[in-house]
Amino acid sequence: MSADISRLWPHPAARIDDDGILDTYAFPRGPWLRMNFVSSIDGAATREGRSGELGGDADRRVFELLRRQADVILVGAGTVRAEGYGAMRLQPDAVQWRRARDMPEHPTFALISGSLDLDPDSDVFTDAPNRPIVYTVSTAPADRREALSAVADVVDAGAQMLDPAMVRADLVARGLFHIHSEGGPGVFGSFIAAGSVDELCLTLASSLEAGGADRISHSPHAAPTDMDIAAILQADRELFLRYVRAGT
Ligand SMILES: NC(=O)c1ccc[n+]([C@@H]2O[C@H](COP(=O)([O-])OP(=O)(O)OC[C@H]3O[C@@H](n4cnc5c(N)ncnc54)[C@H](OP(=O)(O)O)[C@@H]3O)[C@@H](O)[C@H]2O)c1
Repeated sequence: MSADISRLWPHPAARIDDDGILDTYAFPRGPWLRMNFVSSIDGAATREGRSGELGGDADRRVFELLRRQADVILVGAGTVRAEGYGAMRLQPDAVQWRRARDMPEHPTFALISGSLDLDPDSDVFTDAPNRPIVYTVSTAPADRREALSAVADVVDAGAQMLDPAMVRADLVARGLFHIHSEGGPGVFGSFIAAGSVDELCLTLASSLEAGGADRISHSPHAAPTDMDIAAILQADRELFLRYVRAGT
């Protein structure tokens, strides 16, 4: 992918290469939870029910580069169902990049679902290079739990509602420190409310959408959380805004 990307702040630079983008988004040492979203300028998280149509080539380039740095990719069941996720497999250049850094070839795929309405016969599980993890609640249907347990580690992280702090603690206990979440809005909202978000990587796509699309987060109760701007990149029609939790 060849979409040109410049860094506006910090250290302005025209046309940064992949290494420049990766440097801009380098994970800090130790446990860290990053969210990645795309939004239209007027705040829509989807077009026709999916996020992919909002972003352009530059967004896809950054999206792929962010994946390669992660130990684990964490995604909510709503997004897995809506976006039709397959197995968590990276491109050959990303695999090579990870091998050179003694990382596993592919990040682990971790999913969040209260209902366990996930197909154990889908590529997410049957083609997975690493055994996926499914975080759920202890009240989840027993038959679905049994079926998914054949193809994934099914882990309770709450009774009725899933507790983001328990998810995070379990991932860290597995040595999966660098947690990269691709949402969606329900997961983001519950992680904000739990104080479990360290970073947001937001692509602002240059479009106005109107309509009734969701925002990038929702939760039953508001949870105002101050963030600091850590970096700003620009492509032809997109801004890439990196925010970290205030004071970190
Ligand atoms: N703009 C973007 O960058 C972006 C990124 C991702 C997704 N999206 C869009 O967002 C839409 C999906 O939204 P969404 O909110 O449904 O996505 P989501 O956050 O991926 O999934 C929500 C689901 O995750 C589970 N879940 C999340 N938090 C939970 C908690 N605390 N306790 C128990 N279960 C929990 C539940 O799964 P169960 O229903 O299985 O119980 C819930 O229905 C799609 O249209 C997708 O395209 C946009």
